[in-house]
Formats: sequence, C-alpha cells, structure tokens
Amino acid sequence: MIYLQVDHWLVVWSKALNDGPLPEPITTMIGEHERLLVLLGEISNCIAAQGVPDSRKLAELVSSFLLCMDMHVHKEEDILFPCVRVALGSDAAEALDIFEIEHATIGNLLSQFHDLARRLPGKGTCDPEDIRQLGELTSQACEVMPPHIFKEDNVLYPLASQMISQETLRKLATEAKNASRTE
Ligand SMILES: [Fe+2]
Ligand SMILES: [Fe+2]
Repeated sequence: MIYLQVDHWLVVWSKALNDGPLPEPITTMIGEHERLLVLLGEISNCIAAQGVPDSRKLAELVSSFLLCMDMHVHKEEDILFPCVRVALGSDAAEALDIFEIEHATIGNLLSQFHDLARRLPGKGTCDPEDIRQLGELTSQACEVMPPHIFKEDNVLYPLASQMISQETLRKLATEAKNASRTE
C-alpha cells in the first residue's frame, strides 16, 4: 500500500526531473547506498557460510554497516529531507511523510542491529540465538532497503539536486568528511 502511494508521487516527481549530473555530495550518498547493500550481502553470506560463522568478521561487518548507516540516515533525516520538504512545500508533504515512515521502519531495524552488535563477540564463538536473530534482521533489511534506496537514487535525490541550496550541499559534504575521519 505504501509503495502504491509513493509510486503515484514518483510519476509526478519524475516528470519534473532534468537529466544531468548530480552534485558531489549526492553522488557520495548514492555510493553509500551501494556500500550498504554490499555490506548487507556480506553479512548474509557470512551467516550462511557452512559451519560456525566467523565471529570476528561478522562483528566487523556489522560495525561497518552500522557506522555507514547511522551517518547516512543522519544526513537524510537532519539535512536532506527537511530541505526537500521546505522547497517542495505542501505538494510533497504526503510523499515525504511516506519516506519518513519507511525510515521509521528502517530505524527500528537499526536499533535491533545495534543491540545485537553489542552482543557479538569480537573473537570467540557467537551465541547461535544471536546469529539466528541477526540473520532474520538482515533478511528484513534486505527486503526493506532496496526499494527505498531505488526511490531515493532515481527520484528523490535527482529532485533534491535541482532545488538544493549551496549551503545544504556544503553541509552534506562536511558531514561526509567528518564521517570518513571517524571510520
Ligand atoms: Fe533513506
Ligand atoms: Fe538513503
């Protein structure tokens, strides 16, 4: 149902799009999407590998995923979404509400990932129940995130790029630099 409503807005918004290169901080965020999906795939593979999962590798992958995800969500929720909401006004309110509902779902998964990450040992053997829960969370994230990312990459980001102020672009670039220093 949610996706049907958004699809309506995707059609309306996509008509307003010009083809053209996207500004740098936005292309970096598209790169973050790719990295997040790769990391989710690697977490799935690590869990599905035969035998006992490599706990050190799993802990590293989950920690990289959470670091990238927390920074990315912060840039969208605190900088990009408010900018698009103001620029598009009431016409876009409904569609942005839906993006934010999807973020609430993703945020709920993220807090469960954080809880599990605190329990994953950096070495030694993982608790099988923790691995089972991590597998379940990862497969839920693999279901929810790709369609959300598709809409951001193909409509929301290109649209935001057309209306975003230089000041907002600078804020996004600064956040990306700060985050890369902490990695
Ligand atoms: Fe998002
Ligand atoms: Fe995103």
